[in-house]
Amino acid sequence: MNLLTARIDLAAIAYNTRLLKKRAGAAQLMAVVKADGYNHGAAKVAQTIAANGADQFGVATLAEAHELRAAGITQPILSWIWTPEQDLRAAISDGIDLGVSSVEQAHAVVAAARACGRTARVTVKADTGLHRAGVPRCEWNGVFGLLADAHDAVNVTGIFSHLACADEPGNPENNAQAQRLKDAIAAARETGLNPSVNHLANTPAVLTRDDLGFDMVRPGLALYGLEPVAGWDNGLRPAMTLAATVTVVKPVDKGEGVSYGLTWRAGHKGVLAVVSMGYADGLARGLAGTIEVTINGHRYPQVGVVCMDQIVIDLGSNPHGVTMGDEAVIFGPGTSGEMTAYDLARALDTIPYEIICRPHGRVVREYVGQ
Ligand SMILES: Cc1ncc(COP(=O)(O)O)c(C=O)c1O
Repeated sequence: MNLLTARIDLAAIAYNTRLLKKRAGAAQLMAVVKADGYNHGAAKVAQTIAANGADQFGVATLAEAHELRAAGITQPILSWIWTPEQDLRAAISDGIDLGVSSVEQAHAVVAAARACGRTARVTVKADTGLHRAGVPRCEWNGVFGLLADAHDAVNVTGIFSHLACADEPGNPENNAQAQRLKDAIAAARETGLNPSVNHLANTPAVLTRDDLGFDMVRPGLALYGLEPVAGWDNGLRPAMTLAATVTVVKPVDKGEGVSYGLTWRAGHKGVLAVVSMGYADGLARGLAGTIEVTINGHRYPQVGVVCMDQIVIDLGSNPHGVTMGDEAVIFGPGTSGEMTAYDLARALDTIPYEIICRPHGRVVREYVGQ
């Protein structure tokens, strides 16, 4: 038995993938499984996602792309964060598509493709307003021209970009970015390129803006069953449940302090449970006093500070008989009364993306719903 478990419901991921495929309509579905599948285990979830309709995969790093290939993923895989010093020949040989965000990267792909005698598949990332990665507009023609001249070595399959304000569907910047992507596609065509699979839409855009689908949509978060904005309801099924274990149940007297600094004192004689999760496992210290764990279907407040390995729970008079070895759910889909990733995000003043990416350290993944 593991003290700490991230339970991943593959049936939920399969369901979400099918839902997104339907929402994509005529567009292809690129499943974003970067950051180890948003901390759900990329190699494992990618197989479920592939079996349920994903046409392509998107990752940040080359290592993430190689991991998917090693796991048997045969669909195109696009990697968009890398530097020219990395082993691009290995990436090209492994059939990894390269996202190009700069003149330097364009030169490097051409050189690597020629060196290994293989055609590199490239998607140019155009900066349409996010001002993070992506070729700035003033360099579009230079990059497109360079890649068009290297048609012996490089096949530019598409142009893509990333939205800055997709979680505000009515924000005019979304339309402005879509128009700039169209401008980039037109500019690429003028240099002789033929980008045919162009894409822009991440989760919030897929869920709210059918008109921004282009040739492929590129969601991440929704695959894992979370809405990008609390309160939206697109019928997704959250896939991750984070659970720890009750390691000690013990009495506490009225007035006694609990954990470092004795910041919480028992208001009455009662019972405490010690639970095996701390900040070393990704439970933010800033959550102290805001968490309620669910044990056997009942919620109990966490009290005192969050320690490196443990938290303490106030069981009151322990009316439901919590005992050592019981499971304490930190967050999950919310279907059994437990806190959700949205609840923790609100408490920590962050987004649900960060909550599911936090569990690490001694947390062991367990897959269910295969
Ligand atoms: C370039 C790019 N595309 C797509 C995504 C997926 O975004 P989301 O999880 O909101 O669907 C991300 C995630 O940050 C990204 O960086």
